[in-house]
Amino acid sequence: MTDQRLLHAQWSSRTAFILAASGSAIGLGNIWKFPYLAGEFGGGAFVVTYLLCVALIGVPIMIAETLLGRRGRQSPINTMLTLAEEAKASPYWRYTGWLGVAAGFLILSYYSVIAGWAMAYIFKINSALFVNIDAEQTGRFFEAFKSSPEFQSIWHTLFMIATVAIVSRGVSGGLERASRYLMPALFAMLVALDVYAMNSGGFGRGFAFLFYPDFDKLTGEGVLAAMGQAFFSLGLGMGSIMVYGSYLPSHVSIARSSLFVASADTVVALMAGLAIFPLVFAHGLEPGMGPGLIFQTLPIAFGQMPAGWLFGMVFFVLVFFAAITSAVALIEPAVAWLSENLGLSRKQASLYAGAACWFIGLGSAFSFNIWSEVKLFGKTVFELVDFLTANLMLPLGGVLVALFAGWVMKREISEAELELGEGRAYPAWRVLIRYVAPLGVLMVFLDAFGVL
Ligand code: PFF
Repeated sequence: MTDQRLLHAQWSSRTAFILAASGSAIGLGNIWKFPYLAGEFGGGAFVVTYLLCVALIGVPIMIAETLLGRRGRQSPINTMLTLAEEAKASPYWRYTGWLGVAAGFLILSYYSVIAGWAMAYIFKINSALFVNIDAEQTGRFFEAFKSSPEFQSIWHTLFMIATVAIVSRGVSGGLERASRYLMPALFAMLVALDVYAMNSGGFGRGFAFLFYPDFDKLTGEGVLAAMGQAFFSLGLGMGSIMVYGSYLPSHVSIARSSLFVASADTVVALMAGLAIFPLVFAHGLEPGMGPGLIFQTLPIAFGQMPAGWLFGMVFFVLVFFAAITSAVALIEPAVAWLSENLGLSRKQASLYAGAACWFIGLGSAFSFNIWSEVKLFGKTVFELVDFLTANLMLPLGGVLVALFAGWVMKREISEAELELGEGRAYPAWRVLIRYVAPLGVLMVFLDAFGVL
């Protein structure tokens, strides 16, 4: 083991790791993206496919990615290189790390734009405009906001500054301590919104839409989106869990922590869906309206509650917070690599990475207004970057992690790291990681691209 690996920082406890990993997993993906994708791809069948992907592909890969990180104890690129040397495999495995750095970078570029929407709503919802607002008015308000290139770039810039400010100070410390309170607060808020939705008059229809699977409605594209969403929401396939795993003390159970994080992530997504679809049906809205879904439905609920502006503000503050803990994870692999390899200080590395990301993100910010007609393969910049990263790069990165952990790394090593005992748990994980996860991803790709 090199000195660098010994000196590498560690989490203070298992809870600290779980908090950081949940912070990375729970974000806009759960509250913003999951509901709008479920709406776009027809509801129940998408949700069932998503849940299957989380259980059969996501959780085993999450375990594998954490395992590789803890074994390598460096940034993803150097971890992959060291582990490949250890296994006497090709040094080309380091490109898995590169793929991840690139994916995280690209995701953050548009993630910051959407997080900017949540930030803007913290202030906007606090106005008389929103009292008793109806569906048509929230729609008009959102359209006006989205079509202003100035607003879009200002909020995107503010969010990116906040991210860089936090990342440059190091990930633990304030952020870690704050998640301890804010994550449970977000959960409580979702419970309150679910209760509201139950009494909104659309609960039955919303519930059925979300959970009744009509597989005739599910296209190959929908299956691909469900799988991509599983990777996106769990924060897998791009090395951020690998980085977090690299800070994990060796006595902590990787499998148990991963199961906990994946369950919490899934519960939050389903609760967001249950808060939103009843409102969609109660107010005659369109479930497939796309990325604006939460920004056009939730304000109706806040507008009707007593002191709704306060609840609305608190809600969007919590969404902002969930987004920033994910943004930090998205940029961390790039920052870790820049500081390890180019000898930059943490501050410089965060600043450069953030600036580059901000620049690319302008493309997404403008894709909602002045560049809405600029399309490649029929997709705007935002849609294309999202499709490339979530649906292609993350699953590909995940499969490479699975193949490495299942086929390249020696069995004795993964068995010793996971410490799953003599029972069936280790053999079950091994079957999932060697066969089920890679073949599952391959089948979804083939199906989506019309080969199956
Ligand atoms: N999981 C985050 C979300 O659901 O919003 C997004 C994300 C974070 C994706 C970290 C990938 C990642 F590595």
